[in-house]
Amino acid sequence: MDRQSKRKIIALVLLTGIIALLHYLTPTEPHDYHKIHIVLRKLYFLPPVMAAAWFGLRGACITAFAVSLLFILHAFLDWPGNYMEQANQVGELVGFWVAGVIPGWLFDKQRTLLQELANANEETLLGLVSALDLREHNTRLHSQRVREYTQLIANRLGVDEKTKREIGFGALLHDVGKIAVPDQILLKPGKLTDQEWVEMRKHPEAGYRIVKRIGFLKNAAEIVYAHHEQFDGHGYPRGLKGESIPLGARMFMVADVFDALTSERPYRSPMTYEEASAEIKGQSGSHFDPFIVEAFMAIAPEQLRAIIGRYQDGHGDTLAG
Ligand SMILES: [Fe+2]
Repeated sequence: MDRQSKRKIIALVLLTGIIALLHYLTPTEPHDYHKIHIVLRKLYFLPPVMAAAWFGLRGACITAFAVSLLFILHAFLDWPGNYMEQANQVGELVGFWVAGVIPGWLFDKQRTLLQELANANEETLLGLVSALDLREHNTRLHSQRVREYTQLIANRLGVDEKTKREIGFGALLHDVGKIAVPDQILLKPGKLTDQEWVEMRKHPEAGYRIVKRIGFLKNAAEIVYAHHEQFDGHGYPRGLKGESIPLGARMFMVADVFDALTSERPYRSPMTYEEASAEIKGQSGSHFDPFIVEAFMAIAPEQLRAIIGRYQDGHGDTLAG
């Protein structure tokens, strides 16, 4: 159970407890404050509705059950032998269940639909980046591996789930701006001329302009924009330095270089884990943020191997060494 859910459960228990305590303490016999007693009685509707919104049908049922026990106990303790009042309160109790169960069911349905929508968005993005990867690298899975490596680093640093997802999208879409780079430059086998480099270096900004239009990718767009910046300020397009580079982009840089070094290239064999990590360590503080390099080095090689196993496209078992 995550920290947020624990906090919500504590809030529900406290709220129910406070309502019950005040309800039990306010006398039922006729007095000036009797209306407070009636209001407190109505507040029992709150916990089941809140549980429905936070935890869905199951949470709503558990909360409605707890509220029912407290409410029934009150009806029998404070109205002994008063059958009419007890019947009236049992009728009210049914209301707590209706107030919890129906929204709980609707919230569950809404969550399922939102998850399906998120999955559909992700599938669409995966289709797009697979096409781009295929164009440039003759592989389909570079961007997906880089996303997974970046998310492993984010895990080491204890980044929250929402930010991790956004960083993942940034890593996945990092080179989307290369769609604007002509084939004769992008696929040129030899060295690029100065003018060709000028064209090539436009791709982070082109990608940023494409991605920032999409509402849920706003933070990912910042990573796309900064994915060629270097920690010492020698990167492009803005020459950002140190922590002015978004954290996700600093994580991505390590992940991208690791994937490049451990992938097969026409001019060299893939490096082993040891060779690639030594290379990355050597550029800590210049190309990479030392804090991120340290987090990357703390990841077990088996976790990196698992990613390679999942996204193989001629990558081979190069991390065995
Ligand atoms: Fe790039």
